[in-house]
Amino acid sequence: MTVEPVPDLADIQGNILRGYKKDHVRHLVLTITDPQAARRWLLDATSGETAGTPQVTTEKSYSEKPPTCLNVGLTHAGLETLGVAAKHLRTFPHEFVDGMASRALKLGDTGPSDPRHWKAEWQDPSKVHVVVSVHADSPGQREKAGKEVLDAGDGAAFDKTAQLDGDAFPGGQVHFGYRDNIAQPHFAGIRDPIDRPDRQPLVEVGAVLLGHQTPVEDVRWEVPQPKRLGFNGSFNAFRVLEQQVGEFEDFLSQSAALIKDNGMANMVLPPDVEKTWDPPTSRFEAMRELVAAKILGRWRTGVPLALSPYSPTPVCLGKLNDFDYANDTDGLCCPVGSHIRRCNPRSSRIVQRNTNHSRRIVRRGMPYGPPHDPDHPDDGKERGLLGVFICASLIAQFEAIQYDWMNLGLQDPRITGTNDAVVGNNEPEFSSFTMPVGSSSIELRGFSRFVHTVGGAYLFLPSIRALKYLGSLHP
Ligand code: HEM
Repeated sequence: MTVEPVPDLADIQGNILRGYKKDHVRHLVLTITDPQAARRWLLDATSGETAGTPQVTTEKSYSEKPPTCLNVGLTHAGLETLGVAAKHLRTFPHEFVDGMASRALKLGDTGPSDPRHWKAEWQDPSKVHVVVSVHADSPGQREKAGKEVLDAGDGAAFDKTAQLDGDAFPGGQVHFGYRDNIAQPHFAGIRDPIDRPDRQPLVEVGAVLLGHQTPVEDVRWEVPQPKRLGFNGSFNAFRVLEQQVGEFEDFLSQSAALIKDNGMANMVLPPDVEKTWDPPTSRFEAMRELVAAKILGRWRTGVPLALSPYSPTPVCLGKLNDFDYANDTDGLCCPVGSHIRRCNPRSSRIVQRNTNHSRRIVRRGMPYGPPHDPDHPDDGKERGLLGVFICASLIAQFEAIQYDWMNLGLQDPRITGTNDAVVGNNEPEFSSFTMPVGSSSIELRGFSRFVHTVGGAYLFLPSIRALKYLGSLHP
């Protein structure tokens, strides 16, 4: 790996190389109604004048963490509306130009996830121009900063088509009960205080920033033109993913009942081991937790199966990401088809050998909607994940993970043709999940899809210089 100089952090939008670690987010989905006022707002929001318009946050270190942080993402239609010339628009990657909805087949957005069923605000992609994301320490600060954005140009710059709020759950959990946000790429030359030790190579910043060396030797993604627009930019696959928590919990119960009566039950979970868990639990509950762990690759406590195949009780929190699959070739600890092993096979042997470690993405999602209440399973409330998947190439990273690995299982012939059980586009007629046990396996079949896509867009996250450039266009 060639070590490159650290990029100019003051030029890069925040939350890309290091997370904000804030508990509240508001994504404002906006249509530009007055391009001139929108351009003026971009100039104001990057002026460095902290007393006025809330500023777009950068990766530059701050002595005191600001109470609110701001990001700006633009769609292809948004860039066009701001006045980017056609010859420059053509230099953007084609999947970004086409937009997320038109990539539905590739992304597995079919059936209930078909864009025709998406929420109203995503129905006309030509009207989705900007997503401004406000991250805040409190709902009050989020409200204040969100309002200031909407007041831009005396309220003339944007029309708000939707306001999507996400709020962190205690302990970093997400719907389905898993602890999330544990594994993130460690970038060469960048220190994030929440980085956890892992056994993976450092990741070149070009995995998320345009114009820099990527994890693939001698590969840099093409920078959209002019260079000051594209350089240091990034892409965000913004996905609104609704989670069917009741159905997921039912699946765990049905699978636990099935496994409990299977002759191999004691091989997959040694008898009475659940009595040593903290807190101890029943055999049935333990089997439910085991199924949840096998399909994801981590127990719901965040403890990885690779380190602790029989217990979710954390032994050493600092080591939650310090594992590999190299010695678990058959997936006896962590199934090859589990969510985290599909999304990042680390150094396990996969068919496309040169893609190990090459599709690393940054995830900055936040749950929306109230937690599922098992006493009121049919509360009619919507809940899910406001998914933010950041990378430098949507097609070679985000889409490749989603298509090749999550939904086709191309990385290993033993899972090819099956979908990720937690997130994939499953139908009861063909869904299956293999849990290897000894020299045999337990098969779970007949489950439906627990995550429905209800909206989203491919966004370009321009550098600060690029936002200023956009603000000063004279179309
Ligand atoms: C509602 C949908 C989803 C849920 C509930 C979910 C949940 C989780 C959880 C609980 C983890 C383990 C925590 C961690 O390792 O940090 C995880 C890891 C991960 N997920 Fe997802 N996820 C979802 C969608 C996706 C999608 C759409 C992608 C990408 C296409 C994705 C990519 C990843 C990656 C790359 C990891 C880290 C794997 C590693 O490095 O070991 N996830 N996810």
